[in-house]
Amino acid sequence: MTTEIATAEAQTAESILAKQNEYLWPSHILYYKEPMPLDHGKGSYVTDVGGTEYLDYFGGILTTSVGHNHPKIVERVSGQVAKLIHSSTLYPHANHVNLAEKMASITPGNLQKSYFTNSGTEADELAVMAARAYTGNYDILALRHGYSGNSALGKTLTAQAAWRIESSIVPGVKHAINPYCYRCPFKMSYPDCDIACAQDVEDVIKTTTCGRVAGMLVEPIQGVGGFITPPPEYFSIVAEIVRNHGGVMIADEVQTGFGRTGGKWFGIEQWNVEPEIMTMAKGIANGFPMGNTITTPEVADAMMGKGGLICTFGGNPVSTIASLTTIEIMEEEAPLDVIEAKGVKLRSALEGMADNSPVIGDVRGMGLMQGLEIVTDKKSKTPAPELVNSIFEATRAKGLLIGKGGMYNNTVRLTPPLNTTDDELDTAIGILTEVFAELK
Ligand SMILES: Cc1ncc(COP(=O)(O)O)c(C=O)c1O
Repeated sequence: MTTEIATAEAQTAESILAKQNEYLWPSHILYYKEPMPLDHGKGSYVTDVGGTEYLDYFGGILTTSVGHNHPKIVERVSGQVAKLIHSSTLYPHANHVNLAEKMASITPGNLQKSYFTNSGTEADELAVMAARAYTGNYDILALRHGYSGNSALGKTLTAQAAWRIESSIVPGVKHAINPYCYRCPFKMSYPDCDIACAQDVEDVIKTTTCGRVAGMLVEPIQGVGGFITPPPEYFSIVAEIVRNHGGVMIADEVQTGFGRTGGKWFGIEQWNVEPEIMTMAKGIANGFPMGNTITTPEVADAMMGKGGLICTFGGNPVSTIASLTTIEIMEEEAPLDVIEAKGVKLRSALEGMADNSPVIGDVRGMGLMQGLEIVTDKKSKTPAPELVNSIFEATRAKGLLIGKGGMYNNTVRLTPPLNTTDDELDTAIGILTEVFAELK
């Protein structure tokens, strides 16, 4: 038998799924009753191997910021591939330093020094190392509904049982009670609660650590957690508590970064907090693997003399040109105020749907990062993950791809490309309206 590399075009959904089952770990999570092998994409649309086209409003988990296969990215990346694919961090490269310069110019405060890696997990790992090196403290705080990645530390920072793996848990991470107004852990209501969830951070430090922390790693709006959006004062109260105990704030912008929340480049800016460290990935390079840990010169300097750092693929010429081009396209086609306006349009349509639907318990998020928490009924707020599965199948049948998340797997997540058109938004809103009307 000759060895041939079968091209995707030569294969059917059935043959791809058969190989998936035979050769890939069963741990891979696949969306839909009949998983959907994809073939190609253009702009806001993807097409599966059977030739069916879908409006992609989850973007490969908030990653295709400016849509699939944007021609400018294809052109620049192809040019770079023809010239030099790999350099390693042992040799400086123009794309690498140009991207670092760009990152310093779009991030808030004194975040000036980047370290590029390959994923959000790596970016978070490095952020924790840097926080510990800078402060001399060890314990890291995280939130109970956060998600931080696929490594041992990433899984430990992540508190939800469904995402943890027993063999991977490492010491030095404590979890504070999550802000989650729809299901307040204290059974209080905002604003009478006096932001009790923020005060819990002090309690966690005083009762589960030695009283000093290296920092707190938080998502400005929780992604996998189901787009949980904290009260506006939450992060400034928390930042003060963390700093009073010797720690730094680490904003995990893996989902909220690059304009996703509208009006600002990064989610933490919505909450008026300047973190000492910020991590990014996903939407940073429109699908090319990349993570970045950006920090202040002081924190970056603290890593010197603490042991060598190397990342073979970090800042490679192809991913960095993809990232530079993604940001350029955003500036041209999806300015921050336009994203904000599109977010307002989507949000008001979703709120209208919620008014007319007994199963949409909560609408939350910001910008083009909007979530719907689905319940059996608004009074009991009982999570309805099976209903979310039905919504998935129904929206797929009408040509719309969506995402899900939340501790109860009952939150629909909508994250259009940042340069989605008004017509596409209308199409998605129309499909969702029909689907929720049919659920009645
Ligand atoms: C907030 C957040 N941090 C970190 C990660 C890990 O990123 P990656 O999957 O690129 O390792 C994710 C992934 O979903 C994430 O949502």
